[in-house]
Amino acid sequence: MERIERSSFHEERFQRWLLQSMIGEKGFLTLVALDDDEVVGYGSIHLTGPKPARVISIAVLPERRGAGIGRSILEAMEAECESLGVASLCLEVAISNLVALHLYVAKGYEVKGTIPGYYGEGKDAFYMVKDLSGRTRTKSKDEAF
Ligand SMILES: CC(C)(COP(=O)(O)OP(=O)(O)OC[C@H]1O[C@@H](n2cnc3c(N)ncnc32)[C@H](O)[C@@H]1OP(=O)(O)O)[C@@H](O)C(=O)NCCC(=O)NCCS
Repeated sequence: MERIERSSFHEERFQRWLLQSMIGEKGFLTLVALDDDEVVGYGSIHLTGPKPARVISIAVLPERRGAGIGRSILEAMEAECESLGVASLCLEVAISNLVALHLYVAKGYEVKGTIPGYYGEGKDAFYMVKDLSGRTRTKSKDEAF
């Protein structure tokens, strides 16, 4: 997971202690995608209460991207959340991160607001939410924004 973080994020990447919390502490739902014994992607959700739980990270090794791994991780985490009775999921994503935005919009997340400077000066984020209670239908990009 640390290798994936290093290759996926810069100053905003998670430190080892937080990755360890994601794996070991109650309140986190963390899934990894394995190819043989290699961790090629991971995702983590903080189960903060009845609603909404927060997607805190999802990342795939650069050389393994574009093959459906990120989507599979997100879908598996959502299914797990549903079975735990989580009503909705929220997340923040950099406005400039078009790949992640495409993924979230395709999976039915809706932009609920903008957080100026969330990732540092001039680096704004969208705040997005997905309702799991009625299994939100998948929306087109135009509908979601
Ligand atoms: C975002 C990320 C996890 C997606 O994982 P992935 O395995 O590459 O994505 P998938 O192959 O499952 O593709 C899922 C969807 O993402 C979008 N997507 C993937 N690659 C894309 C590209 N090059 N351009 C535009 N959209 C793209 C598409 O909507 C795609 O669905 P589709 O194939 O049905 O069109 C991955 O790119 C990553 O690790 N990025 C760096 C870390 C990061 O930014 N994480 C998100 C933080 S909020």
